Amino acid sequence: MYMFSKSLEERCNRILRDMEGSLTARDRVGIQDFVLLDAYTSESAVLDNLRKRFNENLIYTYIGTLLVSVNPYKELGIYTKKQMDIYMGVNFFELPPHIYALADNVYRTMLTETNNHFILISGESGAGKTEASKKILQFYAVSCPSTKLLDNVRDRLLLSNPVLEAFGNAKTLKNDNSSRFGKYMDIQFDHMGGAVGGHILSYLLEKSRVVHQNHGERSFHIFYQLVEGGEEDLLRWLGLERNCQRYSYLVQGECAKVSSVNDKSDWKTVRKALSVIEFSESNIESLFAIIASVLHLGNVTFVADSQGYATLNNSPEIHWLSKLLGIPAQVIQVGLTHRKIEARSEEVLSPFTVDQAVYAKDALAKAIYGRTFTWLVNELNESLANKDSSRKTVIGLLDIYGFEVFSVNSFEQFCINYCNEKLQQLFIQLTLKSEQEEYEMEGIEWESVPYFNNKIICDLVEEKFKGIISVLDEECLRPGEATDMTFLEKLEEKMGGHPHFVTHKLADQKTRKTLERGDFRLLHYAGEVTYSVVGFLDKNNDLLYRNIKEVMRQSKNAIVKHCFPSTEPDSKKRPETVATQFKSSLVGLTEILMSKEPWYVRCMKPNEGKQPGLFDDVLVRHQVKYLGLMEHLRVRRAGFAYRRRYEIFLQRYKPLCPDTWPNWKGTAAEGVECLVKHLGYKPDEYKMGRTKIFIRHPRTLFATEDAFEVCKHELATRIQAKYKGYRVKGDYIRQRQAATKIETCWRGMKARREREKRAWAVKVIKKFIKGFMTRNQPACVDNTEYLAFVRQNYLTRLKENLPKTVVDKNTWLTPPPIMQEASQMLRKLYTRHMVRRYVQGIMTERKAQLQIKGLTSSIFKGTKENYPHSVGIPFVDTRISEEDIHIKVYQMIRQERIKYSVPVVKYDRNGFRPRFRQLIYTGSAAYLVEEAKIKQRVEFNNLKGVSVSTLSDNFLILHVQCEDIKQKGDLVLQCDYLFEALTKLCLVANKHNFIKVVQGSVKFDIQPGREGFVDFKSGQETMIYRAKNGHLMVESTRTKSRAMIQN
Ligand SMILES: Nc1ncnc2c1ncn2[C@@H]1O[C@H](COP(=O)(O)OP(=O)(O)OP(=O)(O)O)[C@@H](O)[C@H]1O
Ligand SMILES: [Mg+2]
Repeated sequence: MYMFSKSLEERCNRILRDMEGSLTARDRVGIQDFVLLDAYTSESAVLDNLRKRFNENLIYTYIGTLLVSVNPYKELGIYTKKQMDIYMGVNFFELPPHIYALADNVYRTMLTETNNHFILISGESGAGKTEASKKILQFYAVSCPSTKLLDNVRDRLLLSNPVLEAFGNAKTLKNDNSSRFGKYMDIQFDHMGGAVGGHILSYLLEKSRVVHQNHGERSFHIFYQLVEGGEEDLLRWLGLERNCQRYSYLVQGECAKVSSVNDKSDWKTVRKALSVIEFSESNIESLFAIIASVLHLGNVTFVADSQGYATLNNSPEIHWLSKLLGIPAQVIQVGLTHRKIEARSEEVLSPFTVDQAVYAKDALAKAIYGRTFTWLVNELNESLANKDSSRKTVIGLLDIYGFEVFSVNSFEQFCINYCNEKLQQLFIQLTLKSEQEEYEMEGIEWESVPYFNNKIICDLVEEKFKGIISVLDEECLRPGEATDMTFLEKLEEKMGGHPHFVTHKLADQKTRKTLERGDFRLLHYAGEVTYSVVGFLDKNNDLLYRNIKEVMRQSKNAIVKHCFPSTEPDSKKRPETVATQFKSSLVGLTEILMSKEPWYVRCMKPNEGKQPGLFDDVLVRHQVKYLGLMEHLRVRRAGFAYRRRYEIFLQRYKPLCPDTWPNWKGTAAEGVECLVKHLGYKPDEYKMGRTKIFIRHPRTLFATEDAFEVCKHELATRIQAKYKGYRVKGDYIRQRQAATKIETCWRGMKARREREKRAWAVKVIKKFIKGFMTRNQPACVDNTEYLAFVRQNYLTRLKENLPKTVVDKNTWLTPPPIMQEASQMLRKLYTRHMVRRYVQGIMTERKAQLQIKGLTSSIFKGTKENYPHSVGIPFVDTRISEEDIHIKVYQMIRQERIKYSVPVVKYDRNGFRPRFRQLIYTGSAAYLVEEAKIKQRVEFNNLKGVSVSTLSDNFLILHVQCEDIKQKGDLVLQCDYLFEALTKLCLVANKHNFIKVVQGSVKFDIQPGREGFVDFKSGQETMIYRAKNGHLMVESTRTKSRAMIQN
């Protein structure tokens, strides 16, 4: 078995299990579907099941999809909102039978198959048809999608009921709220399932009830509601008293009060409904004026005058009639007591006898009420109409009078029962007959079910020229004295021998006893009914004298005016009889129903006494029979619950099988075969006909439907994905095109910019070259820009390449010719700036140092060759620390305060031998020290001067004042820190100009009167030696001239 079919079976089982689980013990009483009944051919078994369930308050039972309902005559609490929610979207067999389940299934089938449906609610008077139709309507009101607009339609649909019931329902012996008209209501749905409109057709209102009611019955509710509930003002305006007993039309049945009916509150409901349905206030006024005028009319009485003609004796009624209908009293008076007859092409008024006048009055009352009822239905339709022309599907609700048998049955019962015969015909055609014919046509093996075809009875009633209606019409129309009895005779003549027709005359001995002379009996499919012919002709004629119609046409009451239009065919031509009209309306109804899918609700009453909890076997058995339940059950059992044309079935379920999805190549039948095999249908579960597949059990179909439901989502997802993909791809392509376009534009723009830039560059370069070529000419158009550029460029570059220090003399950008002068000025400025910055930045100590160096510079700059080398070497306080001076020496000169010491080489004045000595300055003298010995002390006062050479040697000669021969002469010294030592000497000795820079040789005193010479010259290397001439020769290497320049 396929995977799928396995899951299908599992699902079926699960649903069945759930269903079992959700049912309480009470729910399981009997069986919920007669199809499951073993003894399905036994009426008793059916009855037993109904009784069992009824005793547990289970009023609903299925026969397949047909719903059987038994009136409980009590509130069961099964019509709550919660119950509605439970039944929404649930398969038939998953919950206990309910009218909501049926309503929901009809609705969903309509939505999925987008076709029209009707629910035929049948059953005898008081069986619960109207209640059932209301429950269905309420279910849709709750379960259908809701919007503000739809809610408006919904309210109108719901509220049309109390209005129609007020005007068309009455208390009868069988039912306190018996519908005295047939009603077919279309509810229109849009493709989303929203109720968008409605239409009502009404059939044959029992007008006679306005003027006459049987004992224990009432007229239409609205009269009692108005009298009991009408506001004081309104009643006063209408000239009414709050007492039903005052009105003869309301007390014919002697039961104006009914305990189960609350006229007062019903009045309020109706008033409210009329405003919701948007009846205008003036229309509502006119409407009540008519109701009141009927009551006044009923109280009109006639007395015979001396000639025996009718005259009116109570003028107040005429006064009110005149006021309410807006017709002059006199006109009414004449209209009620005369008729117009034609006498030799002349119209004359002929007075009525009292009887005739009463008859005419009643006829008028019936006509006014009947026509007003028709007007009311039209108004309701106007209010329910959906004006937009989009496609709609409909669900029709047919709540039509049930089969009726009273002790005395008249023309009304004849029509009602004829209507039921027609509906039975329809039922037979739609189910029994068509079902069997279909099996035959489709070549399905089939056990034929015997049923009674009531066509013979329908023909008996309606057949052209031969039927009862034809005979009745003929009798009504023929000239001469036609009476109800002559009509009966005609019937006997024509129908004699018909198996379904009997009269006293035609009956056998036994039957005759049960028949009166004026009776005829029809053997209806539902049972025998004996009709009394009394009144048949009159009721069929429904005559209203021409002059009274003319009177009505004068009315100022808008509704009456509308109901008696001047365009009405002239009375010379006979209007269609009531029976014929009814016959045609039934033909119309049959046509309406035949074009739709049927669903059935069969209502039954459990007893005649409106008693809760009482189950009358005989009564119910009778209903089981005439409602055709047994035949229906047999057909259901033998047949198949579901059938569909192959094409439709395949079209719907093809996604369930990979071979049939998305398209099946072969014939539809083969496709279906393949599909059901894939779904795992068992051979006895289905049959393949010529054009259709037949499925035996609903559960098989439901399981398939469930699987489809699941699959639909997957498909939807796939389609959605594909569509999204398609959309996104489209978006992508568009975006890509857009991107390319933007790119193209962008590139174009960039290229254009580039081109412009290049053109500009060419111009600039050209200008630049021209400027370059003319740079040395006086400023002109060609070179101004170039020169500006050169200037700017030079200044910018200069800014980035400025010398870092004042001593950096090399870093200065060579200026272009036009900037020579500016460059020089800038250089000067910048140097000054650097100097200032430098000067501002130096500390006091350093300043002092520099001042000393400045002194050095003032002495040696430009005079001594090796001076520049010394510039960078900072001066120190001393070159020999005090510790390195021999202690003895130190103690000797300490009080003079040592200012500076430096190591020197002393050359002997004789022989020029070099000796290492320390040269120490104190506050007052310079000492030449050898270890612990002071070799020579030169007081500063005795220091005549100091000589140094211009060359790069380190020699200094101290010239000493020498008066004494014992005194040592000048000192020839060599000092590595020459400049430092000399500068310090100047400072310590406070002598500034005593240093002489000498070129060539320096003469010095060896001792007073004896001179020596030191010669200086430049050589390849530094050499100090005694020259042949006895001079000390000091050769020094030449210092590079660059250094000289820089310093
Ligand atoms: N489902 C129900 N639950 C409770 N009471 C019900 C139910 N159905 C019918 N009844 C009772 O039975 C009464 C008669 O029902 P309803 O008016 O629907 O009968 P009907 O079949 O329309 O009769 P008719 O042919 O005379 O119009 C209702 O007024 C109500 O009291
Ligand atoms: Mg009813």
